[in-house]
Amino acid sequence: MEVHTANLAHNVSEIHRRIGQRPILAVIKNNGYGTGVANVARALEPLDAIHGFAVVKLQEAVTLRDAGVRKPVLLMGPFDAGELHDVVSQRIMPMVYTPMGDALEKEAARVGRRVPIHVCVDTGIGRVGVPFRQAGPLITDLASRKAVEIAGTMMTFTEDAAFDREQMRRFETLTSSLTRTGVALGRRHAASSFALFEHPDGFLDMVRPGMAIYGIYSEPAFRSTGVMDLKPAIALRARVAYVKRLEAGDSAGYERAYKTDRPVWVATLPVGHVDGLPRSAAKGGKVRIGDAMYPIIASVSASHTIVEIGAEQRVQIGDVATIFDAQDGSRPEDFAASCNSSVYDLTMHLHALLPRRVIA
Ligand SMILES: Cc1ncc(COP(=O)(O)O)c(C=O)c1O
Repeated sequence: MEVHTANLAHNVSEIHRRIGQRPILAVIKNNGYGTGVANVARALEPLDAIHGFAVVKLQEAVTLRDAGVRKPVLLMGPFDAGELHDVVSQRIMPMVYTPMGDALEKEAARVGRRVPIHVCVDTGIGRVGVPFRQAGPLITDLASRKAVEIAGTMMTFTEDAAFDREQMRRFETLTSSLTRTGVALGRRHAASSFALFEHPDGFLDMVRPGMAIYGIYSEPAFRSTGVMDLKPAIALRARVAYVKRLEAGDSAGYERAYKTDRPVWVATLPVGHVDGLPRSAAKGGKVRIGDAMYPIIASVSASHTIVEIGAEQRVQIGDVATIFDAQDGSRPEDFAASCNSSVYDLTMHLHALLPRRVIA
């Protein structure tokens, strides 16, 4: 796997231009969408546009601090009472949506400083977050505690265009009435990559994208809008491990998933579903070797993938096969579409132990 830091920086500047220079809370959960959580944080941290980082697992937040990351880190996932101790000690900001003011005050007293938090309001997505109808009293209670600093107030769009507008209305109504009563809400944020394209009125005080930072269009339709020029910052390549000619009547793969009635050259790549390559890649996925695209055939096994080269031996052992990179036709979006898979599944499922090379 390659992580291209120049493309990360390019995407951040595209997002920054799009959002009128607001700050960006970079979502680097799920191992930095496959790039490696510390890799991507180290690459993004020096950029002025990056306010901080958001992850969902405490372990990832701690990994960032262990890696020397100093900018704010928001933990968007759950933690228990014991873990709040680590959260506060490591200066990680918890996302809060339950009445835990007492516990926060206790931790603040222990460390001798205020604890910054982000309050999560559910305006209709129906997962974590205090329901918007009950959010007023909770936020007012948290804001009344000297030991607690509300550094942000957030919501998540359902990404249903019409309902998003209703969610926005609910959030605006709630936050403006709280602001009127003197409650300080910190930065209000909601916008993921989808909203960067679809909802300029949802940019609020800060945006919270993931996919766009990695240079990937979260929806195929966004690619042709011209709203942002995103360059994939992530590539997956493998060296051809073996090349052979199958004869007429031969087969390849478990259960003889592929059969040939004519001689054909095939190449084996040492990458499989355990590495994160979708099994469905054998039903339409293509890889690039040299300048040509070759179909994945048979079935994707745990650690191997077979590619059909054709009547001529045009590929050698050691050649580089690109599963996806920044080139048109081989973008992560292209590969995911050819496998009938989501680009989110593709990058986030890349195995954490794949060798990753950070390229400036
Ligand atoms: C709460 C929250 N905010 C922001 C994001 C970023 O989304 P995206 O990668 O589509 O930009 C996610 C990712 O799913 C999320 O769960």
